[in-house]
Amino acid sequence: MADPTDYPFVLSGDLPLTARAKPGREDVSGLCAWLQANPIWVQEHLTTHGALLLRGFDVQVAEDFEAIARSVDPELKNEYLGTSPRDGITDYVFSASELPDFYPIPQHCEMSFCADPPRRVFFSCLEAPAPDSGETPLCDFRAVWRDLDPDVRSRFVEGGIRIIRNYSGPGHGEHDDPLRLKRWDEMFLTTDRAEVEAQCAAQGFEVTWLEDDGLRLVSTQPVYRDHPVSGERVWHNHVTTFHLGTAAAEYARIAAFRPSERNRNLQKLAVALEASLREKSALEQSMHCTHLDGREIRDEDMDAVRDAVWRNLVVTPWKRGDVVAIDNHSVSHGRLPYEGPRQVAVCWA
Ligand SMILES: [Fe+2]
Repeated sequence: MADPTDYPFVLSGDLPLTARAKPGREDVSGLCAWLQANPIWVQEHLTTHGALLLRGFDVQVAEDFEAIARSVDPELKNEYLGTSPRDGITDYVFSASELPDFYPIPQHCEMSFCADPPRRVFFSCLEAPAPDSGETPLCDFRAVWRDLDPDVRSRFVEGGIRIIRNYSGPGHGEHDDPLRLKRWDEMFLTTDRAEVEAQCAAQGFEVTWLEDDGLRLVSTQPVYRDHPVSGERVWHNHVTTFHLGTAAAEYARIAAFRPSERNRNLQKLAVALEASLREKSALEQSMHCTHLDGREIRDEDMDAVRDAVWRNLVVTPWKRGDVVAIDNHSVSHGRLPYEGPRQVAVCWA
């Protein structure tokens, strides 16, 4: 076990566990060498705390970030079946999301709806947003599971989760629906339908080709997963992201957390949009989730989950050069709205 007097950082906090560079120990190569030499320390602390924030190191560019992430987990991946539009910066580092700055990204464990979600997610702040905006909040989904009313948990477990996503096709250059996040060829990086079907089969997504070149994916996922190392039960699903009530519900909480004219107006807009979306059937929604038999999830159950998430939310302002390593088996992430410059990069393993 590493000798604490040799650590290149000083530790504080719980979620995230913050490792602040000691004076004179800010170089990235020294940090990488230390992380590579102490894999057990790194994995144990990540499992216990759920996230490790490395702060004050000399992270200037995406390559510095990638080197640190690789020192925590050498097996970085670059297949992405999530919903955010992302731009590649290196072969393995992407912009965290090209979604518009006003759009709140609710808490989720990365790709939890896939058959084999990533075990680690990393973010790095290459350009910090304005104060009180654009944070990447974290939430311990072990605590969300513990906090939820047992009756709510039972209704989710007994009802199950069915996810519906509708994508437009390569013939559609522009998106006409603000919730239609990507085209299917952007998501699967191919226009070959057979290749799309093969990728979907590997994930257990049911494919329906629609008129007008559209693609509908219907899938199921677990409500919870048990942590592969600690065995703790974790709320591990994407309902808070995919449910059609998400935008209005998030804006209501964001407007209460951070009152502003802009947030109140966005909330009103989202409420109006949700009302019009509810006139369409579940299968026609850009993104939605129901129980397995097609019943809508009760609104009060969705709110109970969101309330449990917000009770356990940790909002840490970004500083330029920050790198956060997240145990994706237990801790979720999201994004608060912002205006102006912000560059946050992501990679995963
Ligand atoms: Fe994400």
